[in-house]
Amino acid sequence: MTVRGSTAYEHVQDLPPRVQAAMAIASAQEFDHSCAPEQGRLLSVLARGYVGLRVGETGTGCGVGLAWMLHATGATTSFVSIEIDATRAEASVELFADQPNVRVLNGDWTELHAFGPFDLLVLDGGGKGKEPGDDPPLDPSDGWLALGGTIVLDDFTPGDRAHDEARRYWLDHPCLQATELLLTPTLSTVVARRIR
Ligand SMILES: C[S@@+](CC[C@H](N)C(=O)[O-])C[C@H]1O[C@@H](n2cnc3c(N)ncnc32)[C@H](O)[C@@H]1O
Repeated sequence: MTVRGSTAYEHVQDLPPRVQAAMAIASAQEFDHSCAPEQGRLLSVLARGYVGLRVGETGTGCGVGLAWMLHATGATTSFVSIEIDATRAEASVELFADQPNVRVLNGDWTELHAFGPFDLLVLDGGGKGKEPGDDPPLDPSDGWLALGGTIVLDDFTPGDRAHDEARRYWLDHPCLQATELLLTPTLSTVVARRIR
């Protein structure tokens, strides 16, 4: 089983303060689906390549991934993240209230399109088309992702055939150069750059 959320952070030292604060909110809300520390570190490495540019995220949760990315970039990078759950969205708005470059919205992931195209786009709560019954995956070339931009699709399980259709959609998309990275034995992430 993929270890995410509070459990995955139990023995992690030296977290950036805002990641720690986001995890405290997640624990208080008993929300156990925050991005894993390995994913957070990957997000911070990727975000570092887009300082001063535009980052979008579906599924803010309690703001853990956002906090990792903000830590790596700073005030010149603009972030828009959208979360359908009002309680989590409100807590994340408060968490980033001192950062005018971070906007957290309460709404459906499809509303994020109006703020694109993004230079870095993280799909963690809609747009991935991973689970049966999900919305179909978005088309990154349709106003979502800038040319040369990077898209990140968290939370695949290595070897899980149930997700093969979504995995292939992203890995074989004609506009993307993509690969799947193994972050832990039970967690992988597809990372892709828009090439046309
Ligand atoms: C895996 S969690 C996100 C974790 C978060 N990105 C982080 O870094 O900790 C997925 C989130 O997506 C949200 N979500 C689910 N469906 C959504 C939708 N249609 N639009 C926006 N957010 C959605 C869920 O409420 C949940 O908070």
